[in-house]
Amino acid sequence: MIEIDWAEEAGRLRASAEGEGDWNAAVARSLVRDGGKVVADIGCGGGGMAKALAEALPNATVVAVDADPDVLEQAREHTAGLVRCELASMDDGVEPLRRAIDAPADLIWASASVHHAADQQAAVDALASLLAPGGRLALTEGGLPARHLPWDLGVGEPGLELRLDLAQDRWFKVMRDSLPGSVPMPYGWTEALTRAGLTDATTRSVLTETPAPLSPEGTEKLVQQFRTRIARMSGEGHGHGHGHVVPDEEWLEPEDLAVWKQLLDPDGQYYLGRRRDLAVLSVRSIHLGHAPH
Ligand SMILES: C[S@@+](CC[C@H](N)C(=O)[O-])C[C@H]1O[C@@H](n2cnc3c(N)ncnc32)[C@H](O)[C@@H]1O
Repeated sequence: MIEIDWAEEAGRLRASAEGEGDWNAAVARSLVRDGGKVVADIGCGGGGMAKALAEALPNATVVAVDADPDVLEQAREHTAGLVRCELASMDDGVEPLRRAIDAPADLIWASASVHHAADQQAAVDALASLLAPGGRLALTEGGLPARHLPWDLGVGEPGLELRLDLAQDRWFKVMRDSLPGSVPMPYGWTEALTRAGLTDATTRSVLTETPAPLSPEGTEKLVQQFRTRIARMSGEGHGHGHGHVVPDEEWLEPEDLAVWKQLLDPDGQYYLGRRRDLAVLSVRSIHLGHAPH
């Protein structure tokens, strides 16, 4: 049983809104169309994309929506008056979302949020129904697991990062199953957009690369991300806040967990923070559907 406490995540979501400014700005510029009047970011987290959309389309009304008040407060601070922030949940049907956005939308963006809705297809249907004729729904979901570490780290069995990805994949399944009223969606995102009545559903994936060696700040940020992920996978605290983990849930093999502890120990021989061969390679997918004219 996994229950995510989003309020605990609020600080981390704000940090990621601040750290991903360049990615958000580039994607926002590529998505907006001149003349767009109403744009919404659903499950906005720290408000990074909502802010980027407001900057890319200064004459539009941009609405940032989230289901958690503490998260929304971070978005409100980060977007500093550029964006209207509204509390609503995709789990409560279409009306609260309609009231929040308050006008048919030219563009709705939802990144890594629909997969937290109990019924993902119902959430996609609701978002699609809020589009103006010809409006677009952009769902950022999936992509490829990011790569940061060399395959052989000189400690433990090679392939440590791949096994962390697999553990997180098992965690994700339990997280989905733990949502009250969870409904399976045994098909992909373009199919979900098409079933919601949208046309020409397609996917565009964006690759981000920072080659080794990372800057000292980049290295520190990456080490911190691994700390958060390993805390979650070892049932300690609420790493990435993804909440309470039943104590007997074992996500990582004990041997791998012991290696991670060495890699994350600043005083240890194998501390990641001293390596010059860490990198960032990530691919995020944006699935886009169009409302009929
Ligand atoms: C993984 S975060 C993604 C945040 C941001 N969109 C991003 O890409 O960085 C998921 C966000 O969705 C919000 N959320 C979760 N369930 C939701 C729901 N049912 N309705 C609206 N927002 C929800 C959470 O509060 C959180 O801010």
